[in-house]
Amino acid sequence: MNVVLGISGGIAAYKAPDLVRRLRERGADVQIVTTASAEEFVTSTALQAVSGRPIRSNLWDKEAEAAMSHIELARWADVVLIAPATAEVMARIVSGGAPDLLTTICLATEAPIALAPAMNHVMWSNQATQANRDVLEKRGIHILGPGIGSQACGETGAGRMLEPDAIAAAVFSLTGAQIDGLLKGRKVVITAGPTREAIDPVRYITNRSSGKMGYAIASAAAAQGADVVLISGPVNLAEPPGIEVIKVESAQQMYEATHNVIRDADIFIAAAAVADYRPASVVAQKIKKKDEAMRLELVRCPDILASVAALPTAPFTVGFAAETDKVIEYARGKLEKKKLDLIIANRVGDNCGFDRDDNTATALWQNGEQSFPTCSKSDLARELIELVAQHFYAVRSADT
Ligand SMILES: Cc1cc2nc3c(=O)[nH]c(=O)nc-3n(C[C@H](O)[C@H](O)[C@H](O)COP(=O)(O)O)c2cc1C
Repeated sequence: MNVVLGISGGIAAYKAPDLVRRLRERGADVQIVTTASAEEFVTSTALQAVSGRPIRSNLWDKEAEAAMSHIELARWADVVLIAPATAEVMARIVSGGAPDLLTTICLATEAPIALAPAMNHVMWSNQATQANRDVLEKRGIHILGPGIGSQACGETGAGRMLEPDAIAAAVFSLTGAQIDGLLKGRKVVITAGPTREAIDPVRYITNRSSGKMGYAIASAAAAQGADVVLISGPVNLAEPPGIEVIKVESAQQMYEATHNVIRDADIFIAAAAVADYRPASVVAQKIKKKDEAMRLELVRCPDILASVAALPTAPFTVGFAAETDKVIEYARGKLEKKKLDLIIANRVGDNCGFDRDDNTATALWQNGEQSFPTCSKSDLARELIELVAQHFYAVRSADT
């Protein structure tokens, strides 16, 4: 897929090199077009290095125009993506003017256009910007985000540019382009998040899993071209674009959802923190406070991971072991007992593991292991998916 990536002059332009990498790892060719203001935020040297192409910026650059004119660039594009998109560039596109190379390409292209706005939350909520957004959407331009959160100006609100990985995924999803990655055409089923085991209509047993690791793994697998089915317990995370998400609550529901989709899966990654036990029975009415103490009888939940690994034609099966102590020892025990192909061990507890944006892990397999130092869950997910793909193909070629 040919992507013309327009970069305009917002602070989020510092994320542009990462966005280029995320697009290129999915198989896109990226031609960067910067506005004059963008050059204040990110150097053309960095952008040229990551995109592998000279940067275009000036409409009046005779040499560059002779090589590929603005019209040829507009035709070359399968999609024009502007990230970050400033309030100013949105206004210029709405006006239909073409004072610079980027807006000229926007006028001259028949390819879909997507904008990832990024600005201070007051700029974003300004009536003028909102009116511009409405016009752009009515014209069929895709508006990706923005996200809500802390901003470079020190305030919090709507206006953050979406993360590069989410933008790249959304662009591939909206164009329907096939991602040319390590897992192209492979079906990967992933579980994520906690489960909830009902006690009565208002109470349940659960755990501290946020689902962030499983969601990051799902995005990383999709970025490598996999057809991903994500079976998710209750979490507070946005659905990753281009991924089929099946929402469940209890371990039993997760078990059933998994077995409904696992038959033709190539790889199964169990990142969910599934409850081991659930109340023996769910009380129909809210339990009233009466006695000083009460007993809750628990029974075992189905073991989803072991049940998939034991299938006669089991997919390549990857487990997670979240432990507070003896992490490697317990993980290796689980790998052997459940006959898994691979297990990812990580420590959970104070300041590590659950509900954080970073993680540290060790991958273990029958004859080896590999440690991954602390990094963001999305970086770790990318490395883990590469490792999983490498082992998956090694097992496949040994079987044939
Ligand atoms: C330090 C600094 C940060 C800025 N950040 C943003 C921003 O995040 N979003 C935005 O819409 N404008 C931002 N602006 C304003 C734009 O740079 C300005 O509107 C410029 O004219 C945009 O030009 P362009 O759309 O052609 O790149 C910023 C300006 C400065 C000086």
